[in-house]
Amino acid sequence: MSSHAGHGHHDTHAADIDWDILGPLLEQEAELNGTQYEEAARWIAALPTAPKVRRVLDIGSGPGVVSCLLAEVFPEAEVVAVDATPALLERASNRARRLGVIDRFRTLEAELPSDLDRLGEADLIWAGNSLHHLGDQRAALAGFAGLLRPGGTVALVEGGLPARRLPRDIGIGQPGLEARMTAAAATRFERMRSELPGAKREIEDWAALFTEVGLAPQGTRSFLLDLPAPLSRPVRDHVVASIARERDVLGDLLTAEDSAVLDRLLDPEDPEGLHHRPDVHLLAARTVHLGRRGD
Ligand SMILES: C[S@@+](CC[C@H](N)C(=O)[O-])C[C@H]1O[C@@H](n2cnc3c(N)ncnc32)[C@H](O)[C@@H]1O
Repeated sequence: MSSHAGHGHHDTHAADIDWDILGPLLEQEAELNGTQYEEAARWIAALPTAPKVRRVLDIGSGPGVVSCLLAEVFPEAEVVAVDATPALLERASNRARRLGVIDRFRTLEAELPSDLDRLGEADLIWAGNSLHHLGDQRAALAGFAGLLRPGGTVALVEGGLPARRLPRDIGIGQPGLEARMTAAAATRFERMRSELPGAKREIEDWAALFTEVGLAPQGTRSFLLDLPAPLSRPVRDHVVASIARERDVLGDLLTAEDSAVLDRLLDPEDPEGLHHRPDVHLLAARTVHLGRRGD
């Protein structure tokens, strides 16, 4: 998918990203976390200080699963799905149409932080796994704070716990494969961040950053996704697709032995592979941090 060419920093990555694979993957992942995200949204809606939410910005919405949930939880709000990738925004509006919320739903193709001033004001700004894609997270957060109406809230989904899908010892290769994949992913994440334009190192203490940009920390909660073995076919398929993508993007950050084990795990014919083994599960946590603008 190259429709993104010419839009700033994504250029360096756009060529490597196949949105036809990543789009459905992001969508399934958010769908699997649907209950957790809805619980988070209801937590925000029920805060004693919650303002009437009339406009929501979902920053880095991707395929819009959470944007649509926010439209359902805040029935009086217009929800704007903001993303730099048109192919994902198309998924978002198709979804909003399917779910019958399209009359209160908009998509906005925007490259952040440069397009911040095109977003308009909001009572709720949700940034789900997206702030970390911006080089200067503090400046971006200050930008979000500047868009909030009095009493409005920023919700950041950052941190949490990486998914666990396999036992420590799977009987093939060295025990601890998934922990080594997590370590490799951390290295890749740091590379990704260091290549962002204006990349700036920051202590990722979101509550402290809220305070520094003039928002009052309103609480942090984590939401658990806990699907024990045996997995249903669709969840198993998602786990297979996620691990296939991780093998592809982690490449030489994994040892040859671990890569060979992953090849076996991903082989649909292998009886010890992910398609057949009974011990595949899905356990993960997402953390949501809230910051509020004073009245
Ligand atoms: C990891 S996905 C998160 C998708 C969704 N919020 C979720 O939680 O499922 C990050 C999203 O941020 C978008 N994104 C990354 N950098 C961006 C930028 N500089 N401006 C706008 N969107 C960006 C990507 O296109 C992608 O859809």
